[in-house]
Amino acid sequence: MDLIVAVYENWGIGKNGTQPIVVPEDRKHFRSVTGHSTVIVGDRTMKDFPGGKPLKNRRNIVLSIIPDFEADGADVAHSFDEAMNLVKEDEETFVIGGASIYRLFLPFCRRAYITMIYVSPDCDVWFPNLDELDNWVVEDEGELREHEGLFYRFMTYKNMNYDKHEDE
Ligand SMILES: NC(=O)c1ccc[n+]([C@@H]2O[C@H](COP(=O)([O-])OP(=O)(O)OC[C@H]3O[C@@H](n4cnc5c(N)ncnc54)[C@H](OP(=O)(O)O)[C@@H]3O)[C@@H](O)[C@H]2O)c1
Repeated sequence: MDLIVAVYENWGIGKNGTQPIVVPEDRKHFRSVTGHSTVIVGDRTMKDFPGGKPLKNRRNIVLSIIPDFEADGADVAHSFDEAMNLVKEDEETFVIGGASIYRLFLPFCRRAYITMIYVSPDCDVWFPNLDELDNWVVEDEGELREHEGLFYRFMTYKNMNYDKHEDE
């Protein structure tokens, strides 16, 4: 499984349940990377999707601890183990947030697709700074891009411990 996230320079990822600054090209990038795969998402992040609904053209696994939680068009998992079990046969799975879900699944991801946006808006949720974690290395730095004065790049990091988990 892999993850995808847009981070700001300070590794902030959201404020008040949403992303304070969005690069339109990043939305397209997200769709093209995750299209037709399975996505794992927290209940709070799903509420921020258009209409508060699961994403189209993908199998959505929504995490909630609420026993009778239902989301039309999504499968519900009530724990990390339940989510892992639901996706075990799926060819490609992306962890798509939010902060609590990234923290849970990060050690089990092979690759992190990071959109690095060079701005530092006020945030109340953060992604772990991968540059401070020894097992995560930059695999592809991506080219520097610009949208209306905002600089960003599509990077990939690789989890050097991933194969160890696979062997367990
Ligand atoms: N920049 C990006 O790329 C990006 C991507 C995604 C999200 N975000 C941002 O991240 C923020 C949301 O992150 P968040 O951490 O507040 O919320 P979240 O991770 O999206 O969702 C939290 C919810 O997930 C469920 N959950 C969490 N751990 C669980 C577990 N172990 N078992 C079962 N259910 C579990 C719970 O739902 P219940 O309350 O229903 O039990 C919990 O309230 C927003 O600001 C959003 O914009 C940013």
